[in-house]
Amino acid sequence: MNDYKRTKTEYIYILGIDTSCDDTSAAVLKNTLVLSNVISSQDDLHKQWGGVVPDLARRAHAERIDKVIAEALQRASINEGKKLRIRNMNAIAVTFGPGLAIALEVGINKAKQLCTEYKLPLIAVNHMEGHLLSALAANSHGKSPLTVSELIYPVIGLLISGGHTEIIKFNKLGKYELLGETLDDACGEAFDKVARMLGLGYPGAKALAEFAKKGDENAIRFPVPLEHDERVAFSFSGLKTAVYYYLKKREEAGKKLTPQVIADVAASFQKSAALHLCQKLQMVLNKVNPGIVLLGGGVVANIYIRNKLRTLVKNHGSRLIFPATKKLFADNGAMIAVAGYFKYMRGEFTDPAVLDRSPRAPLA
Ligand code: KG4
Ligand code: ZN
Repeated sequence: MNDYKRTKTEYIYILGIDTSCDDTSAAVLKNTLVLSNVISSQDDLHKQWGGVVPDLARRAHAERIDKVIAEALQRASINEGKKLRIRNMNAIAVTFGPGLAIALEVGINKAKQLCTEYKLPLIAVNHMEGHLLSALAANSHGKSPLTVSELIYPVIGLLISGGHTEIIKFNKLGKYELLGETLDDACGEAFDKVARMLGLGYPGAKALAEFAKKGDENAIRFPVPLEHDERVAFSFSGLKTAVYYYLKKREEAGKKLTPQVIADVAASFQKSAALHLCQKLQMVLNKVNPGIVLLGGGVVANIYIRNKLRTLVKNHGSRLIFPATKKLFADNGAMIAVAGYFKYMRGEFTDPAVLDRSPRAPLA
């Protein structure tokens, strides 16, 4: 349904909802300015199982979604200095995929229900488009790393999250080309799995990155995936397995896993993972010569990786841009609202009667 015409007012308020995995999130944006971005993490719930349990995620989303939306509206009202209710929104944007089917469903159903009740246009957003455009969101001081008018095409997006590792090219918003993706594990997934091998719990990527700071990145020579492969593709499974066998061999030899060994393994693994990302991005830079490289996804929280990528892109003569705040790296409603805002401006609305979850929705 495209019956909805966009309101041609100066400011557009959008409520963004994401329940794609294990975070229940809702945000309110005024154009691209983030007025609120509430994230209710389920880490504690899934920790004991060593990974995300879909049914637990679904139940937690269902329990929390109303409260998270109410809080997003409340915080946005404080920031805006006036009461903002659902009926003051111009549209609701929701993630329709990719993600866990039964988790996505919770956010989609809530968005449909609110859109129908308040007669608001519904905007279906691809979760990866949210990560890709998250750098266009402005923080509460109105500062964004980049505005849409500053995009110099072609733009390359490097998306590194727990579920995806992909390189995207685009010449205009909304029309994306996939240049390469992972053949097996995603980058964040590999960090979490190696962290678990090192006894750092789940999700352990952040702890691994902390240990890596104290380690010697040249202590162990782990392979750099697809190093001599011409393809623009990623692979983290072999690297993960190399760490597994290294640890197994040590264990069989009766060697203890001391904090220093953990730090050295973490640093050496992280170095190989970063080199892998850099080598593949370099290939793309040489081929495409983009004006701008956008970074998105949970792994952007990794400062070591960010710095390596930044140097690479700078040496090439392009600009590397990543989101304004930490909250925008990982899954959040604001990135969905920001992608939703650009769809709103193009008048791309979806009929609540036909919107369905799409767990494997491709971006391109
Ligand atoms: O984007 P995101 O929140 O969720 C998905 O869409 O998958 O990404 C989450 C991923 C997790 O795998 C997490 O372990 C990883 O981002 N991550 C990190 C760091 N912090 C979070 N990976 C490496 N270093 C970090 N500091
Ligand atoms: Zn994500």
